Amino acid sequence: VAGLLCAYAEIMAAIYAWLGRHRVLVDSFLAAVLAVFGLAAMLHQPWPYVPITLLLVAPVAIRRQIPTTAFMIAAVAGLWQLAIGGPTGADLAILVLLYTVAAYRPRRQSTAAAAICMVGGCVAIIVWSPDGPGAKLIMQLLVGGVLFGGSTLSAWVLGDSMRYRRGYYAALEDRAARLEAERDAQAKVATAAERARIARELHDIIAHHVSVMVVQADGAGYALRSDPVRAEMAIKAISATGRQALTEMRRLLGVLRGADEQAQMTPVPGIGELRELLDQARAAGLAVSYTLSGVPRELPEGAGLAAYRVVQESLTNTRKHAGLAASAAVTLRYEPDGLVVEVTDDGVASLPADSAGHGLAGMRERIEMYGGTVQAGPLPGGGFGVRARLPCPLGATAAGAPAMADALADAQVAAGWAAGGR
Ligand SMILES: Nc1ncnc2c1ncn2[C@@H]1O[C@H](COP(=O)(O)OP(=O)(O)O)[C@@H](O)[C@H]1O
Ligand SMILES: [Mg+2]
Repeated sequence: VAGLLCAYAEIMAAIYAWLGRHRVLVDSFLAAVLAVFGLAAMLHQPWPYVPITLLLVAPVAIRRQIPTTAFMIAAVAGLWQLAIGGPTGADLAILVLLYTVAAYRPRRQSTAAAAICMVGGCVAIIVWSPDGPGAKLIMQLLVGGVLFGGSTLSAWVLGDSMRYRRGYYAALEDRAARLEAERDAQAKVATAAERARIARELHDIIAHHVSVMVVQADGAGYALRSDPVRAEMAIKAISATGRQALTEMRRLLGVLRGADEQAQMTPVPGIGELRELLDQARAAGLAVSYTLSGVPRELPEGAGLAAYRVVQESLTNTRKHAGLAASAAVTLRYEPDGLVVEVTDDGVASLPADSAGHGLAGMRERIEMYGGTVQAGPLPGGGFGVRARLPCPLGATAAGAPAMADALADAQVAAGWAAGGR
């Protein structure tokens, strides 16, 4: 039975599709049927009823191509018919055409068409009444009004509801299409953002660690004969840096592969890891001082990494661009509405070219993602400065207390470094 029903549904769908593709043919058939109706009643009518009937039914064949024009042609034929005689079966064509106007044209046009039908109907009752204008006219107007008016109204309502339904389905389809397009666009944006994020992480990890390794290797090369102990230390630093780079790369790859548990096992660097970062920079021969002011507090997730990367990239840049004699100063300032990270150096500053590397651009993207701002450029008194401000309003997180203790401990350590910084 199910198979039979399926076959039935398929056959019906095929028939509807065929009907949809051959509208003029279908409508011509309808027009022919109406013509037969009309011509059957012709036997007792004067000759002009032949052209009148044709004018009434012929527009039905093209009713869906030019609904309003088709209706107007039939209305003119109806007027002619009013002038010379009584109704025919072909008058049904006017109702079909009114339905079509209501279904395919704006309501303004279809109400005008319905009004024409109503007026024509009333005039027809008066003109065609067997007794002529007279006593029974009121009665005739009532009966005729119900007949003509009822059928006119039905045709109009049918067509209008059809138009409404079609509009409704079109709106639904449109909405579905828009949603789909929106989803695709969002997916694209998400992919692009993800790629940018990966590129930033890769840049920061590689640029930092490799530049440290290059500096250490240069130092080891110099000291190899004259100071084997220092050379050994430098080589140890190279292997430690390389291992750290590998760990961070592995974490990044873990995130990429979606191996979330592994990614969580190797923690993301944050403010707490600044100490090691500065140690590393010092071991690579850069004098760095560190100052902390304000009361440290918990940063929103991800903002800690952003701050860490700002310091990391800025120190890498100092090593790369500021010249050998440069020293750097890192400042963390907790202000009421946010954290300010400042890295300045006293080297030879150069204006960042537009086409310059990805470091400063990535830094800006990173910080702006957390609603912060970055300024970077040569300082008025010489050297280069980077200032990033990350919004983190006071009291935004409840978990502030333990983090504060940690950060205070850090601050004490930092005070020690500042004194011992080379
Ligand atoms: N500390 C600095 N001292 C001097 N110039 C700098 C410093 N930091 C950045 N710059 C300039 O800004 C440019 C852009 O830096 P960045 O975006 O990090 O790219 P990259 O480091 O890959 O060259 C650098 O090429 C350099 O000219
Ligand atoms: Mg750089």
